[in-house]
Formats: sequence, structure tokens, C-alpha cells
Amino acid sequence: MNKIITFEDILLSGKELDRIRRELYHSSGPGFIIFREFVRRQIADHIVEYWVRQAKPEVSHTRIKPKNPFYPGCPAYFAGSLEGSRTYYNPFWGPIFDVATNEVSLAISQLRAKIEGKAFGREIFPYPGGKCTVPRVVITRSGKTIVPPHSDYGMDEPDPANVDLARLQATLYLSEHQKDYNGSGFVFTRNDGKQVCFARDEKLVSGDLVLWRYPNQHEVRDISVVGDQIGFVRMLFPPEKIGAPQKMGRKLSLRSLVPAPMKRIIKKAIGVK
Ligand SMILES: [Fe+2]
Repeated sequence: MNKIITFEDILLSGKELDRIRRELYHSSGPGFIIFREFVRRQIADHIVEYWVRQAKPEVSHTRIKPKNPFYPGCPAYFAGSLEGSRTYYNPFWGPIFDVATNEVSLAISQLRAKIEGKAFGREIFPYPGGKCTVPRVVITRSGKTIVPPHSDYGMDEPDPANVDLARLQATLYLSEHQKDYNGSGFVFTRNDGKQVCFARDEKLVSGDLVLWRYPNQHEVRDISVVGDQIGFVRMLFPPEKIGAPQKMGRKLSLRSLVPAPMKRIIKKAIGVK
């Protein structure tokens, strides 16, 4: 059989990776890189149509819990506000609501892992105690301080195990500044300390993808809509902490692992009757 495509063909070359990593990680680079038309307009429009106009979160998703919502096999979640802002959390383990959204999410996760120099599969399959990418579709229609300025995985992480200066986040833009919403939106602090609003300053359109350094400060602010504007719509790919499945969590609680005679000895030692 003729050689048509090989595993290496679908990977970035060394030269491309060098250039991309220099843009992201070197102090002379901006700390972000844009892949324009990563998703062609027809597919981007389809994704927007599904999540902005067709999705019925009350039927398809469960309202997210404030603490430790993610575990293997957990449902897809949503959060919403009165003015119509919505966040959908769509784990890879299903159900698949929209095939295009799911395939694009996998492709972006793979691209990010390649650039970070990490194994793609490490955050695709959930296991308790690990982290797993849970793609989000976010629709923001109004607000002042929507996500306050902060960084992730930087040197100021309270738990040193969470420091990882190579970590990247990806934002797939699914709306256009001033056409679909007004104000600022996502604001990122570059490697040289200057702030950039990608959508406004880089003139992003729906389907453009940005990979950016997670430890650099970032925020979402000042968004408003008028008339039939849909809002600031994008997809994000945060690695989420994965807890134990709820039933197994009860069975494997620390207390349950201590044998009864040992419990009596401990209680006696600490003076508990
Ligand atoms: Fe963040």
C-alpha cells in the first residue's frame, strides 16, 4: 500500500514548534500566539448557532455545584445568569451534544499539549486525583468585573505543586468585538507587562484561536450588548481537578479505611469517648 499519511505528518515540525514556543515563552515574545481561521467560518457559525440559539441547558445539562463538581462520569454542567450569560462545561466523556464542538475541542487540546511538550492523553481521560481538560463554552452578555485579574500556574500559586510556567490556555473566539458585543472582554498581560485586548487590538473574528501563557495575568471586564448582539462567545479548555466518583468517594473515605479496633485505639489516645 502506498504511504499516504503517517503519524509524524499530523504533528508540527521542529522548526514550527521552535518559532511558536519562542513567541510564547521567550521574554522577547508577546506570550501569546494567534492561529487565524483555525476553525473555518462555516464550522464556527455552526458551533455558535448550537450553543447560543439551540441549546436548552435546563434539559441537557445539570446546574454546576460550587465544590468539586468534576469526577469520572460526572454530568455536563451549566451556569447561567438572568441577563442571559451562560457557561457550559462539556466533559469529553459525554454526552456529545455537538460533534463539531467536541472534535474542535479535542484538536485544540492536542495542539496545546504538543506546544507545551506534554503528552496529549494525560488530561483527556479522567482519574481521581488527576486533572482533566473540560471544555467550556462561555457566553458573556454583560458585566463590569467578570473575571478579576489573576494568573494560573504561576509562582504565586499557594500550592507549589500547581506551579507550571509552561502551561498554556487556549481561547477559541466565536464572536467579534463591536459586531457581537461592546466594551473590552478578555484582557491579557503580555510578557513585557503591556496589556492587550486580543479581540479589539488583534481584530479577531469568529474561528480564530489564541494560545496564551496561563501564568501571565488575565481578566475579563466591561462587556455589554445592545439589540440582537449575542455577546462575547468563546471556548476555553481549563484542566479541572478530578475527584472520586461520588459512590466510591463514600466507600473510600479516609475514615472508612481505618479498621474499627484502630479507631478505638486512636479515640483512647486522643481522649475522645
Ligand atoms: Fe484564569
